[in-house]
Amino acid sequence: MIKISLNNQSLFNIKSECLILPCLEDTKPSALLKEVDRALNGAITTAFNNKRFGGKPSQTLLLHGGKPFKAENILLVGVGPHKEISPEKLRLASGTAAKVAEKSNFKSASVFLDTLDKTKKTLSDNDLASSIAEGFGLALYHFDHYKSADKEAPSRLQKLVLNSASRTPQSNLKKGIKQAEIIISAVHSARDLVSHPGNTATPTFLANHARKMARKNKITCKVLGKKEMTKLGMGALLGVSRGSHEAPALIVLEYFGTAKSKAPTVIVGKGVTFDTGGISLKPSAGMDEMKMDMSGAATTLATLQAVSSLKLPINVVGIVGAVENMPGGSAIKPGDILKSMSGKTIEVLNTDAEGRLVLADALTYAGRYKPKEVIDLATLTGAVLMALGHQGAAVIGTDPDMITRLKKAGDATGERVWEMPLWEEFEKAVKSDIADLKNIASPGVGAGTITAAAFLKAFAGDQPWTHIDIAGTAWGAEKPYTTKGASGYGVRLLLQYLTQAK
Ligand code: BES
Ligand code: MN
Ligand code: ZN
Repeated sequence: MIKISLNNQSLFNIKSECLILPCLEDTKPSALLKEVDRALNGAITTAFNNKRFGGKPSQTLLLHGGKPFKAENILLVGVGPHKEISPEKLRLASGTAAKVAEKSNFKSASVFLDTLDKTKKTLSDNDLASSIAEGFGLALYHFDHYKSADKEAPSRLQKLVLNSASRTPQSNLKKGIKQAEIIISAVHSARDLVSHPGNTATPTFLANHARKMARKNKITCKVLGKKEMTKLGMGALLGVSRGSHEAPALIVLEYFGTAKSKAPTVIVGKGVTFDTGGISLKPSAGMDEMKMDMSGAATTLATLQAVSSLKLPINVVGIVGAVENMPGGSAIKPGDILKSMSGKTIEVLNTDAEGRLVLADALTYAGRYKPKEVIDLATLTGAVLMALGHQGAAVIGTDPDMITRLKKAGDATGERVWEMPLWEEFEKAVKSDIADLKNIASPGVGAGTITAAAFLKAFAGDQPWTHIDIAGTAWGAEKPYTTKGASGYGVRLLLQYLTQAK
């Protein structure tokens, strides 16, 4: 992971391989850029005049530095107009710059923050430093756990210095960097978990990861195995697990940042470590991607990691239902009826709608904590990709205020959510003729993302509850500050939600 530090040098004293200057959008260079321009013999004015650079988002301009600079190269990156500046705009610009610097094989870079002095009133020092650091660190994620070392490859960009001469004292900049480091590390741990293939990231692997993470972070961790879950009557979760040789696990993490008497927020994650579909087998094309079906679990574990590192003054419990969905000889079959921990019976009409079976028992277990609120995250339906693509997750729940706050957190972090309606017709559509519920809706109902949520609602308890369908956002969304593959979606959204004032 990138090392980030802080300095207070003025523009011409910054010694760096690559000096990054974030630039607000304008028709002509700012006073500070004019100084840079003079030192570079008018290179910036020329770029402005030729419309090659004007501070627009995603624009970059890489120039040679040297005397009178102590920097070898100068990289201008656009952040957009002053009145639209936000932490998300800065993350995007910083991620863009990070990728250019990485492609240019620079080993270290510095960002000069004082080109953004105009934003001093609207952007706190903390937000400025954390968003720039975050965008930079997140953009440089690589998963090369399984690649043999390449001796020819140049070493990676691994040092970032934030530089400000004008923002003093620097304590809030420093806080922002600390915060960003914790967030980057958590998001990267979620992305690692999702990137590992199904033959590594089994339910047992997730449980071991959770145990280790909990030990490091002073969280309590409990893992229930098949025996304990059988005792609790978790027939729905165990039903999914029956076709697999991998042992199931219910992972429970408890973080107390305030009085234990205060009801916790419970986060529940779908941890299907590989989803073949079971007897309702999926087609082979693209099935490999179903290693990401534990993204909800990864986000849950990573969020608890960050909540604890940030020492948030709240209580949070994380619950992960970890199973593998395979079509083995003991697998459940279409038509089978399972009895869930809640006592409700479920007619399984499609073994590929397994996530809701796992979540049913995990949500019931969550009720034991008498939670203040419950949020579940799951790569639950392909239908959400039809509705929102990779651009946002669907939220469906019982508490409008909670959803409003999640939306706000989504806009702030760029991990957007969009509400879908839980109309009662959809709840009727998952009632079974011969059991209490069926795991897929009646034919012709449509709205696959909502009917899945309607099923979950039967197990969600009476406290405020929101379901987040991350099937479209957990994987394959490329942004300036994320790479292809696992996105770690939801960690920053939940952290923002948990920290933002009510
Ligand atoms: N894990 C899948 C959903 C999914 C699809 C995640 C695409 C990521 C990308 C889930 O278990 C599933 O198979 N859902 C079915 C439900 C259907 C059988 C009602 C689906 O969406 O097709
Ligand atoms: Mn499935
Ligand atoms: Zn699934």
